[in-house]
Amino acid sequence: MTGYILALDQGTTSSRAILYDDHARPIKMAQQPTTLKTPQADFVEQDAQQIWQTQISCAHDVINQAGLLATDVNSIAITNQRESIVIWDKQTGKPLAPAIIWQDRRTASYCKTLATEIPTSINNGNQDDIASDIQRITGLRLDPYFSASKIAWLLEHNPKWRTRANKGEIAVGTIDSWLIYKLTGGEHVIDVTNASRTLLYDIHKMAWSEDLCALFAIPMGMLPKVLPSDGDFGKTKKGLFAKQIPIHAVLGDQQAALFGQGCLDAGMAKNTYGTGCFMLMNIGQKPKLSAHKLLTTIAWQRKSESTRPESLSFDQIVQSGRRMLQPPKKEVTYALEGSVFMAGAIVQWLRDNLGMIQQSGEVEHLARQVDSSGEVVLLPAFTGLGAPYWRSDISASITGMSRGTTKAHIARAALEAIAYQTYDVLIAMQKDSPHPLTELRVDGGAANNDLLMQFQADLLDVPVLRPKDTEVTAKGAALLAGLKTGLYDEATMQASWQVERVFEATMSADMRQAHLYKWQQAIDRALSMI
Ligand code: G3P
Repeated sequence: MTGYILALDQGTTSSRAILYDDHARPIKMAQQPTTLKTPQADFVEQDAQQIWQTQISCAHDVINQAGLLATDVNSIAITNQRESIVIWDKQTGKPLAPAIIWQDRRTASYCKTLATEIPTSINNGNQDDIASDIQRITGLRLDPYFSASKIAWLLEHNPKWRTRANKGEIAVGTIDSWLIYKLTGGEHVIDVTNASRTLLYDIHKMAWSEDLCALFAIPMGMLPKVLPSDGDFGKTKKGLFAKQIPIHAVLGDQQAALFGQGCLDAGMAKNTYGTGCFMLMNIGQKPKLSAHKLLTTIAWQRKSESTRPESLSFDQIVQSGRRMLQPPKKEVTYALEGSVFMAGAIVQWLRDNLGMIQQSGEVEHLARQVDSSGEVVLLPAFTGLGAPYWRSDISASITGMSRGTTKAHIARAALEAIAYQTYDVLIAMQKDSPHPLTELRVDGGAANNDLLMQFQADLLDVPVLRPKDTEVTAKGAALLAGLKTGLYDEATMQASWQVERVFEATMSADMRQAHLYKWQQAIDRALSMI
């Protein structure tokens, strides 16, 4: 089979389209920025039409730039920023409100009230345990990060929409759902990895939770139909491209990165250094709830999941040249996740708010002007702290400055803060998982920062592996689509991941402890100030 996979990667700050050839090699990319708006403190929004228009424009651009025709495209794969939601009118296809983005904290007090004050039927009126019940059902935490409270807020503030939602006139969805609706001209579906980030999806029963929809007062009729990650999501509507292209794979961006990093076996983990930092570990086919404030989430569900003989490793199977053609079954793979809200966004803050650098890439040069950050610690709680603290009430701070502190110290402290947060997540993950972490695969923009990657390896004391192609998010979705259609096989998958550089830990144990002590003190100080 020949052809190209068109991967659409709708992220927090841009829409991108990448074409992959029949060896899963990226051949062309088009990108357009999207605008984040903060109309009020704690609000983070985007124009849903802009999300769609930038995304479809990139899709057309990339095909043109590559000198291809739509008839050359085998299928579309979608990967997207997760948790963010769009609400739209089913008749007009127009959004009713700006998209509420995952970083939005407007529902922080609503979540707090829900956690402490509202007895429900889920827990037989036990007021203390709603958060535990939510974790038991969804694997997630009761936090404004996820979609449910955002949808609840919209309906609460627009009572007429609830009436219309009950009549089936209004739809809500995550960004994948919105894009598929626009691409197909009417399919209202969602992939299971995105559903698992809404706080409304039962990851054991693999269905929307009636109890949680009732808890958040969300009419179930406005939710999309859930499909496996390599399900049949429909075809592009007539006239959008020269041919109707099928959509064959959809994954949330962090799950796509896990797949694209080749973390197919339990115990394998990746960390993506994007706007935030998202570490995911494949934990196999059984969902294990975290006892250390991490999330349990669906990594992917494949309609045609490979069933490898347990005695053979992935490499052995590929070397044996055996093709694994299996009966279709919908096997679910789960992941543990630590979500850190600010990573690359800290560097953007240095650039946009402090004007310390012109381009994000300059931060490494600036940070290298000093050997250490000294006593300076930047606690990047600009939108509270995510895993493993989950404190939306903490503010960002820079401590430990003296008369001699320069912007180089602050730049270095900013990079270190990214690595410290990852360390905290990894420690929690090690406690939760029976699999010791022997290496960490990295990707995302900030993974190209050598200073950060070395410091990361030093702190974690495990090798940090950077692949040649760090665009693993789009690639993960493309690989899944190609595997589904038969354009790719397991060997393509294996060949698509090659290491570019391994960062080995070189820091002494004493030095590591000194660094971690400094960070822990900053965390303790922030927690005690509330
Ligand atoms: O959970 C939020 C995450 O999916 C956003 O990813 O890459 O757009 O910052 P990114």
